[in-house]
Amino acid sequence: MCGIVGYVGESNALPIVASGLKNLEYRGYDSAGVALSTDGRLDVFKSEGEIDDLELPESHPSTCGIGHTRWSTHGEPSDANSHPHTDCTGDISVVHNGIIDNYEALKNELSDHEFTSETDTEVVPHLLEETYDGDDLVSAVEHVVAQLDGSFALAVTAADHDGIVAARRDSPLVLGFCDDGNFVASDVTAFLEHTREVAFLEDGDVAALTDDSVTVRSAGERVERERQTVDWEADSAEKAGYEHYMLKEIHEQPQALRQTISGRLDVVNGEVDLELDLPEQYLQSVEEIQIVACGTSYHAGLYARRLLEEHADVRTSVEIASEYEFTGGRDPWRTLVVAVSQSGETADTLRAMRTASAAGARTLALTNTVGSTAAREADDVVYIRAGPEIGVAATKTFAAQVTTLALLTVEVGRTRGALSGDRASTLLENVRGIPGAIQQVLDADESIRDVAREYADSDAFFFIGRKLGMPVSLEGALKLKEISYLHAEGFAGGELKHGTLALVTEDTPVLAVLTDGANASETLRNVKEVESRGAPVVGASSLENAESFLDASFTVPELGGLEPLVANVYLQLFAYHVADELGRNIDKPRNLAKSVTVE
Ligand code: F6R
Repeated sequence: MCGIVGYVGESNALPIVASGLKNLEYRGYDSAGVALSTDGRLDVFKSEGEIDDLELPESHPSTCGIGHTRWSTHGEPSDANSHPHTDCTGDISVVHNGIIDNYEALKNELSDHEFTSETDTEVVPHLLEETYDGDDLVSAVEHVVAQLDGSFALAVTAADHDGIVAARRDSPLVLGFCDDGNFVASDVTAFLEHTREVAFLEDGDVAALTDDSVTVRSAGERVERERQTVDWEADSAEKAGYEHYMLKEIHEQPQALRQTISGRLDVVNGEVDLELDLPEQYLQSVEEIQIVACGTSYHAGLYARRLLEEHADVRTSVEIASEYEFTGGRDPWRTLVVAVSQSGETADTLRAMRTASAAGARTLALTNTVGSTAAREADDVVYIRAGPEIGVAATKTFAAQVTTLALLTVEVGRTRGALSGDRASTLLENVRGIPGAIQQVLDADESIRDVAREYADSDAFFFIGRKLGMPVSLEGALKLKEISYLHAEGFAGGELKHGTLALVTEDTPVLAVLTDGANASETLRNVKEVESRGAPVVGASSLENAESFLDASFTVPELGGLEPLVANVYLQLFAYHVADELGRNIDKPRNLAKSVTVE
C-alpha cells in the first residue's frame, strides 16, 4: 500500500518527513516524494525509485511538509506519476492512498486544466484549484472529497496555507501529537520516534493540522477523536500490531479485495470494467483460454478455470508455467494466454508467456505489480490491486487473483453472450460479498488457533475438496507445508481412495472444504472414508450440524457458490497458527523467496 506522512510544527519539516518515509518503506513502494510549504512557496521533490534516490536539498526552511511512498495502481512507476501531485499553479499539493473510481469523469470536467500524470490522484489538486479561494482550505477539501467516489486517504498542503488538511474514506489515517508539532500518517510507524500519542481518523473525517492545533470535522460538524497512547515497538507497528506480516496480510484481505473490485463492478447491469483492450470480436472468437502460472497463482488459475467454463462457456486449461510447451496443436490465433503472477517477475511464468507470444497467441498478464516485466511484455494487463505483500507466503494476493479472475469471467462471459445480465448480476453481487464474508472468518481467528495448536504435532495433513474446493485444498496444503515444514497434500476429494488413503491414520488430520461450490455432499462421503480410518477431520463448512460429525467445524457464510474462496481463509489461518506453534520463521520460510526470478 502507499504510505503518507505529514508534519507541521516548530521544527524543520524536511528531515522529519524524510525519516517518516523511511519508516514507511516496509510497506513496499516504487516511487516517493515530498512537498514543503513555506512563506507562500511550495517545493516538490519526487521521483521513481528508492527514497534514497530522491534529490532532496541539504536543508529547507519549511516547518510544514507532506511525503508519500507510492505503490502504483494507475499509471506506471515514473517521476511524473509519483506523489505529491499539484494543480496548474503548482501552489496546491496532494498525496493520496486508495483509488478514485470516478477520476475519468472528473478529469473530463477539468478540460481546461493541464494534467501531467496518468494517475487518478491528480484530479484532486485540480479540483481544489477550482474551489480553494486562498482562504479556507478545509472547506475546499470538504467540498472536493464530496465529489469523489472510491477510497482515499488524502493529505493536502498549499503554498499560502499554514498547515495540512487530511481526509479519509476507506483508507486509514492516524494523527500524532507531540510538543513541537502534529503529524498525520497512514500508520503510526511513520512518526513513532516522535510521539506515541495518537488518534485514528474515521471515515468521512476531515482534519486540519497546524503547529499547535488539530481539529476534526465530520459532515461539516466538529468531532473529537479519542486520543490514545500506543505502546507498539517500531517493529510491531510495521505489522500493525500483528506478530507477522503473513497474519497482517491475511487480516488485510477484506480491505485489499474492496480495492480489487473498486470501480469495476456494475452489479445492476451485470457488467464489469477492467479497462482491458481486448477487442469484442476477438473475445467472441477465442476457442481456448490457457492460464499459465506457478504455485499459489497456479491454484488461483485452477479456481478460475471452473468459473470460466461454467459462466463464460470457454474451454480453459491451466498449465504449470515451468511445464508449458506451446505445442502448436491448438490454434494460437484463437487462444488467449493469461499469465497469473503476483510479482509479474516469475521467470517460469515469463518464459511461458514469451513462448505463447512467439507462437502468435495474445497474452494477458494478471498481476499485482504495476510496471513488472509481465505487465510490460503482455499484450494486455489487469491489476489485482492487493497492495504489496511482504510475507513470502501468498495470502491476500491469492484472494485478489481469484476475485479479479471472477471479474474477467464476467467480462468474457458477457462478451461471448454466454452469461445473461441476470446471472452476471448475481455473480457480481456474490463477488461484492466476498470481503464481508472473509471478515466473518477472520473474526473466528482465535478458535482456529486453538484447533491448529491441537494438531500441530501431527505426522502429516491431507486437504480435500471438490470443484472449487479442489484448488483450495491444494492451496491449503501448500500454505501449510511452506511455512510449517510439515508434510501436507491436497486432493480432489474423490482421489484420496486411489492410493493416499493408505497413509491416513489417527495421526493424520484431514481438512475438508464442505461448502457450496465444493460439492459438499460428495466430499462428505470422502470424509466418512477417512473418519473410518480414525483420522480427525476439521471442516470449513456450510453444512447444517457439521459440528456433530466433524472433530472441529468452522462455518463459512453463504456466497452463491463462491464459498471455497472464503473457506481458504480458514486454511490460511490454520497454516499460520500451526507454523507459529512450531516457532517457524513464518515470513521468510527456509529455502524460499518472494519472487522466483530463476527458471
Ligand atoms: C506460495 C507462493 C508461491 C508463488 C509462486 C508464483 O505461497 O507465494 O508459490 O505463488 O512462486 O509467484 P508469482 O505469483 O509472483 O508469479
